[in-house]
Amino acid sequence: MTAGLPLRPSAVKEFAMTSVILPQNPNLQEFVDLAGALATKASNAFAAASSLEELEEARIEYLGDQRGQLRSFQVALGRLPKEDRPQAGRQFNAVKQQISEAYETRKLELAASGASAPTLADPTMPARRQWRGAKHPVTLVIEEIEGIFRELGFTIATGPEAETEWYNFGSLNFPPNHPAMDLHDTLYLRGDVLLRTHTSPVQTRTLQRYAPPIRVLIPGRVYRRDFFDPSHAPAFEQIEGLCIDEGISFVDLKATLTRFANRFFGKRPTRFRPSFFPFTEPSAEMDVQCGVCGGAGCAVCKQTGWVEILGSGMVHPAVLEATGVDSERYTGWAFGMGPARIALSRYGIPDIRVLYDSDVRFLEQAAAQLSGKAPE
Ligand code: DAH
Repeated sequence: MTAGLPLRPSAVKEFAMTSVILPQNPNLQEFVDLAGALATKASNAFAAASSLEELEEARIEYLGDQRGQLRSFQVALGRLPKEDRPQAGRQFNAVKQQISEAYETRKLELAASGASAPTLADPTMPARRQWRGAKHPVTLVIEEIEGIFRELGFTIATGPEAETEWYNFGSLNFPPNHPAMDLHDTLYLRGDVLLRTHTSPVQTRTLQRYAPPIRVLIPGRVYRRDFFDPSHAPAFEQIEGLCIDEGISFVDLKATLTRFANRFFGKRPTRFRPSFFPFTEPSAEMDVQCGVCGGAGCAVCKQTGWVEILGSGMVHPAVLEATGVDSERYTGWAFGMGPARIALSRYGIPDIRVLYDSDVRFLEQAAAQLSGKAPE
């Protein structure tokens, strides 16, 4: 005979609390009573489980297929006299259902309270950083410029990026042999269709569709056969402006563009320099005093103290006549600027190419810097 394993007194007590001892051959009354007692004990055990792991242990104890306590009642049921079995069977089914429901209820409670979460995740781990997204610096510049001109009575117009030679050059008074029309300056698609080299063709499209008075701002992407270098990109944004009415003079051009520069760059000195464009006469480029050195000269302004921000001029009569607008009655002015260049000088970005890299680290940095107002 082998001696039984010595049981700790507390273990004996535990056993008595959790187990229902079914005699070898119970009679009907014992079966019914003890099954009822098992239902109570099982329900208590499930309710006492404080984690999904503990609940699983209790489930095996009472509902387990092999040695679960309910299983021994099923065996005993088969040994009862035939006439007692229907009543014992009903009791068995009722108890089984009660225990199963108690188990499911507790399982849902524990899952909902996340009782086992500590074993699934390390709460000391640093949180994952959130990238909320932000507008690109060039988009911000375009939107701000649009806002200023909207206040001055301008509406927004857009046009196609694939243009014909006539819209891109001919209607804008380019002479037929202008070098900008060469294959190595311009990206041709098919025949005389090309990727527009500037937003100026939308001037023509606007004049074709609308009668003066006209005040439009035309943002859009343009393309040139330029290499990617610190100050050039083969595709970039432009903003065109066009104002046509009776009695419009160079005074309106200067006043409006100076007003714009003061709004956008702060009260920095501006200057106009004579220039040339086929579609304006006279033409002028506008500079704003360098915001980095305050006019003393630095790398950003190439030691000049000034940063060029746009080309402009009085719309050439030939441009008006190309679309049938009476150039004796109407005059106007136009301008074109590059918001990417403006973003570079405004935010001190040293290389235009970073605007195209889509490097999230740069965009994050820019977003943080730009969410405050730009330095004046
Ligand atoms: N289209 C010119 C360019 O791409 C910019 C420009 C200059 C537009 C003068 C104008 C203007 O409307 O009047 O360089």
